[in-house]
Amino acid sequence: MSRPPFITFEGTEGCGKSTQVQQLSVRLEERGIPFLVTREPGGTPIGETIKELLQFAPQGIGMTPETELLLFEASRSQLVRQTIKPALARGICVISDRFFDSTTVYQGAARKLDPQTVERLNAFAVGDCIPDVTFVLDVDADTARARMQKPRRPDRMEQEPAEFYEQVRRAYRQLVAREPNRVVLIDGSRSAADIGDELWATLVRRFPAVAGKSEIGNLSEPSAPTSQRPKSGM
Ligand code: TMP
Repeated sequence: MSRPPFITFEGTEGCGKSTQVQQLSVRLEERGIPFLVTREPGGTPIGETIKELLQFAPQGIGMTPETELLLFEASRSQLVRQTIKPALARGICVISDRFFDSTTVYQGAARKLDPQTVERLNAFAVGDCIPDVTFVLDVDADTARARMQKPRRPDRMEQEPAEFYEQVRRAYRQLVAREPNRVVLIDGSRSAADIGDELWATLVRRFPAVAGKSEIGNLSEPSAPTSQRPKSGM
C-alpha cells in the first residue's frame, strides 16, 4: 500500500471503541507516525452540528428513519471530502470512531431500512474512500450496559429497546462474515490492554509501516500496555 492506512472502529454503544482509539493513538504517537483521529457522526463543523441534531437536540424526537439515514450520510460526505481524503493524500494515517458500517448496521439492519438503498447512499457518501481495516469490538448486552453506567448526556440514539442492540450486534457479526478481508471481529469483553495488544498485532501484520522494525520480526510478543494519553491527533 502506498498511502497510510485508513482504520475504522465499530461496535455497539459501550463496546470500548473510544478507549481503543485512544490506545492506538498513543502507540502511533510513540512511534512518530502522523495520524488523525476523527469520528462519526461529526468530525467537521458541519458534521458536529448534524450530530447534535441526530443525538441530542429536542427537535430530534420524532425524526423519521429516512431523515436519520440522510443526516448520517450528510455528515459522512462532508467528513470524507473535508478531512479524511485530504489527510490520507498528505500521508497521514486516519482513525475514525465509526464510519459507513454503522449505517449498514443501525439504519439498515436495526431500523430495517432497505439495505440496497443504504448501500447506495453509503457508496454515494464515501466514493472511493473505503477503510483498509475495520475493527468490530464485540460485547454482549450486559457488558455494554455495565460500561455505560457513568453519567452521559441523554442521547436519542440510546433510547432503543434491548432487541435493537441485539440486531446491531448480529448485523456486525454478519458484516465480518461478509467482508473478512476488511472487517476484523475482536472479543471486546477482555481487558483494554489485551484488546489493544491484539489490535496492534493485527495492524502491524497488515501494515508493517506503522511499526518499528523490531516489532515486525516479533509479532507473537504482545507489546507493553500503554497508559499514556495521546496529546492530540487532530
Ligand atoms: P457514539 O458517539 O456513542 O458512537 O454514538 C453514535 C450513535 O450514532 C450510536 O448510537 C450509533 C449511531 N450511528 C448510527 O445509527 N448510524 C451511523 O451511521 C453512525 C455513524 C452512528
